[in-house]
Amino acid sequence: MQIIITKNYEELSKEAAKIVRTRILEKPNLVLGLATGSTPLGLYQALIKMHQQENLDFREARTFNLDEYVGLAPDHPQSYNYYMRENLFKHINIKKENVFIPKGIAENIEEFCQQYEYGIKKRGGIDLQILGIGRDGHIGFNEPGTSFTSRTHIVNLDSVTIEDNARFFNNESEVPRRAITMGIGTIMEAKECLMLVSGAYKTEIIARALQGQITEKVPASVLQKHPNLTVILDEEAANRLEV
Ligand code: PGA
Repeated sequence: MQIIITKNYEELSKEAAKIVRTRILEKPNLVLGLATGSTPLGLYQALIKMHQQENLDFREARTFNLDEYVGLAPDHPQSYNYYMRENLFKHINIKKENVFIPKGIAENIEEFCQQYEYGIKKRGGIDLQILGIGRDGHIGFNEPGTSFTSRTHIVNLDSVTIEDNARFFNNESEVPRRAITMGIGTIMEAKECLMLVSGAYKTEIIARALQGQITEKVPASVLQKHPNLTVILDEEAANRLEV
């Protein structure tokens, strides 16, 4: 595991973007796993800048997002489809047919989840997976207690997650209670993982995840077993890490 501690969120985002840029230059048709939420926003802005100023080319890249709320259509402003379009895809030259995001309004969710897994496999697996961490230790929307061998599946969101994500909605009651997420087994098969952690409120959970016991009670702790993991934290988030 490689740990990089940066002064602040801006530096964290720049460091993350440099890693993604290197991987795209090494492999233009990279299969990139993407995350949503507040943390990767700076990374996406930095990538957009690299595309605009240095012609960083996404034409051949393929992307798979970690998760999506059940019941939200792709054009719903709080859906992760919408988030990705607004915060990254519409500003770069990625091809629409190379973008994959779980379909929150799939008629048959079980079947959709299997297709999603198949879609990843068919493209050779994820080369680089971007990850955040929830205050309860979730990765993707894999909440505490999720099996380390889980594949893409439907989940019930924890109350902590609903509370944390309420800031994106008018109020807590609007937050969907269920989501589709890549499983922990799916995430662990990514050839490389890049986790981004920012802010004082993540300090306790990230210390438990990276330096505590490996347990399904802290889903992100599984990453201690990943052979190629980089974690970038800002100083606030790294406060309790023993380095
Ligand atoms: P955040 O979400 O980046 O908005 O803190 C992280 C997560 O829930 O995985």
